[in-house]
Amino acid sequence: MKLQKLFTRLVEHGIAADPRPKKDIDRILKKAKDKQKKLSKKEAELFDEERLWNPYSDSRITNGTGNEEIKTIIVGIDVETADLMLVDRLISKGEKIDAVMAHHPEGRALADLEKVMPIQIDLLSGVGVPENRGESLMLPRMERIWRAIHADNLYRAERAAELLNIPFFNCHTPADNLVWRFMEKNICSKKFHDLEEILNALMEIPEYKMYAKKGNPPIIVNGSKSSRPGKLVATEFTGGTNGPEEYIEEQAKAGIGTILTMHVTEKSLEKAKEHHVNFIQCSHIASDNIGLNLILDKIAKEEKQLKVLEFSGFNRVKRK
Ligand SMILES: [Fe+2]
Ligand SMILES: [Fe+2]
Repeated sequence: MKLQKLFTRLVEHGIAADPRPKKDIDRILKKAKDKQKKLSKKEAELFDEERLWNPYSDSRITNGTGNEEIKTIIVGIDVETADLMLVDRLISKGEKIDAVMAHHPEGRALADLEKVMPIQIDLLSGVGVPENRGESLMLPRMERIWRAIHADNLYRAERAAELLNIPFFNCHTPADNLVWRFMEKNICSKKFHDLEEILNALMEIPEYKMYAKKGNPPIIVNGSKSSRPGKLVATEFTGGTNGPEEYIEEQAKAGIGTILTMHVTEKSLEKAKEHHVNFIQCSHIASDNIGLNLILDKIAKEEKQLKVLEFSGFNRVKRK
């Protein structure tokens, strides 16, 4: 499979699992096309053509033409210069590796991370938070993320991949969409009497069990094992990074009792206490593993020969 084909399929699987209806995504892509037509010559130089077909600004091919033939990928959660050097070392010891796939963004995918965050407005609207409120709370948070990342040294890993001549791409929100859907279907739709039962259900998932065995289990960060869950949601699994803390209050008002999340900030924990919302922090990296495994299962069906190696926090678990 060519690199571009592989990456395109990842995006398409992300769209199929997206909280937004496909027609909304098509409208966003069409808007980008209309915008491109109206650009001056100078503006056109800065236009990101990826936006014409890929709705996930935090996922892209960071190094490579797309024409590379891919038979073996090595997959990691975070891939920076040191990880790329490790890959180069493995290659020089005789390992066949055609490309590196990361989960978390680097380079331009990181620079544009905040642009995927509006997905969270749709996610919250799905659990009863009005879109207008979701949006006006999200915009200042997006600006904060944009400013914070703006100061980073963004293109180091990209340059390392170029120098080492290693095709390098990442798949962030497409994979996170799949883990969100998985949690909604396999956990949130079930009836639990207390938070301990939820923890037990999470421990049935191989990725959480594997991480728990290594000392990184899902934990209750607000509430107790005997707390009643109330309405259970998984609103913090996709959409780039944490939303605004005010989203906790909004969800409480919308009748949410327990939130499954990947990482809890101190401020959102304060909000959860204030508004009596239970929080279960599902191990972040184990959760990211689930998303990557689910999307790789889909690719494996289409490309039976693709070999997947694991590093940087990723462990391949195949599902039927
Ligand atoms: Fe993730
Ligand atoms: Fe993550």
